[in-house]
Amino acid sequence: MLEIKNLSCRVKGEEENILEDFSLKINDGEVHVLMGPNGTGKSTLAKAIMGHYKYEVVNGDILFDNESILDLDVSERARKGIFLCMQDPTVIEGVSNSEFLRTALGEVTGEKVNLYTFIKDMEKSMEEVSLDNSMLHRSLNLGFSGGEKKKNEILQLKLLKPKFIILDELDSGLDVDSLRVVCKNINDYIKDNPTTSLLIITHYPRILEYIKVDFVHILKDKKILKTGNETLAFEIEKEGFTGVNIMTGNDRNE
Ligand SMILES: Nc1ncnc2c1ncn2[C@@H]1O[C@H](COP(=O)(O)OP(=O)(O)O)[C@@H](O)[C@H]1O
Ligand SMILES: [Mg+2]
Repeated sequence: MLEIKNLSCRVKGEEENILEDFSLKINDGEVHVLMGPNGTGKSTLAKAIMGHYKYEVVNGDILFDNESILDLDVSERARKGIFLCMQDPTVIEGVSNSEFLRTALGEVTGEKVNLYTFIKDMEKSMEEVSLDNSMLHRSLNLGFSGGEKKKNEILQLKLLKPKFIILDELDSGLDVDSLRVVCKNINDYIKDNPTTSLLIITHYPRILEYIKVDFVHILKDKKILKTGNETLAFEIEKEGFTGVNIMTGNDRNE
């Protein structure tokens, strides 16, 4: 589904690359975890895949369903079925949550949104993520708690029905009960849509207790230095990123 080939990217206008010669391949239905110390470029990767305007790809390619998406803007990538659950979801004052969702849904599906079914779907989804209905009428993410912001991202996901999902630090700001609810929603979504692929970015393996994963990758020195299974994530929790010998790693992509 997603293939990142020798990607080098940086913040626009900066000299130094944040990622360099980074490669990763994610097939249909696979769940991958990307771990790495703070500031190694995990969120940069997520934003580069989504096509964030602040990040520039200087080398390499990102293929989605075998086609390069580098020339597509954010909404075109979303229309292809790519979804990013952001580490710090954007606040938009003056745009209500429901207005935002309806516009996003119209943009992504390219169809006129039927108000009646939209409201029904939204109410059902809100109950499933245990968000209060009043959140719909508030400005997008304005004054939302960390947990409410993340649940709201999952609400968007449920309505937009993406094929490829990136979860950037989903577990930050979520208490144990909220994390359980959110992960249940993700698991139900995968069960209903088994070809969906996930890229989970995290620095704590806690989320792996709730979601079954296929591969765990360690990002360090601008690229993936080691690939393993969930055992690797728990090793890192115990030993730290410096304790695990990542240089002897077998990278599945090389
Ligand atoms: N928009 C930006 N402007 C300036 N520096 C940035 C920007 N985005 C990322 N960086 C820098 O790039 C590095 C990687 O950041 P990031 O991708 O957020 O790391 P991670 O998500 O792994 O913690 C950091 O040193 C960060 O300061
Ligand atoms: Mg980050």
